[in-house]
Amino acid sequence: MGYISETELSDLVEQAKDYASEGKVADYIPALKYANKRDLSIAMVSGNDMLAAGAPEQPFTLQSVSKILTFAIVLDDLGFDPVYQKVGVEPSTKSFNTVTESYNHNKPLNPMINAGALAVTNMISGKGTAEKLEKILTLVRRMAGNPAIEVNSSVASSEFETAHVNRALCYLLKSKDIITGDVDELMDLYCRQCAIEVSCQDLARIAYVLANNGVDPDTNEEILPSSVARIVTTTMAMCGMYNASGEFAVNVGVPAKSGVSGAILAVVPGKMGIGIYGPSLDADSISIAGRQLLQQLASRLKLSIFQT
Ligand code: DON
Repeated sequence: MGYISETELSDLVEQAKDYASEGKVADYIPALKYANKRDLSIAMVSGNDMLAAGAPEQPFTLQSVSKILTFAIVLDDLGFDPVYQKVGVEPSTKSFNTVTESYNHNKPLNPMINAGALAVTNMISGKGTAEKLEKILTLVRRMAGNPAIEVNSSVASSEFETAHVNRALCYLLKSKDIITGDVDELMDLYCRQCAIEVSCQDLARIAYVLANNGVDPDTNEEILPSSVARIVTTTMAMCGMYNASGEFAVNVGVPAKSGVSGAILAVVPGKMGIGIYGPSLDADSISIAGRQLLQQLASRLKLSIFQT
């Protein structure tokens, strides 16, 4: 990566690992509770270069990181205005699955909280769940440059069986005419998108495509229009860390999206894509050691987009 060595990166990972003991692995999705609390890995991609530390090939599920990919799909298919009619892009002040505080002008505040993400997944066009899921997988595989990416079915069914709050959100969204169709079918697709299994290397490559205006760094092909990459990245900066987005902007300063598996995907526009995995979560449901690692890295490499 030029300005940080592998040894230095490994040292940052080792230091950040100590924070894991202060957090908690997610257990409301039963399949996630077996994760090893002290795991911490990172991969950074810039152009065709990759730098990594920890176990950058270790698999984990995307969880909420998938929300940026489904958002990209509907923006690409429908354009911003029709999507914005149903889901806003305003920051939220409550946790990701809040039922009562999710709305502004009668629509979900943003596509990063569950209410907004469910509405977005409901907008994906296709004949049935299989076709819609294939659309999501195709985008993930292209962005990651990894055709082997699949859904972890046991994580998907573990969430499907316990997704009571998400089902409640769906019925509220139905009552407001934000979503249509069968709730369990939507839950099935949503749980599968969340259970797509990736590694830090995949996450970093996905992030780099966003940092690179939607263009594949190897083939120079456009995977996403640059306008879609811009809207997704902007929404990540405003809402990607939920009610911690402001503090994260001050202390880290890069668009990012977290997942309850412990995933963090961060985009340094024009420069770098970062993928982190550390399953011990803080009170904001964000990887506690991963957040610390990203903060140290951002300060060390002066990554904040808010200062040159
Ligand atoms: O819908 C859920 O509850 C999970 N599949 C994803 C939530 C999540 O990752 C929140 N992120 N920190």
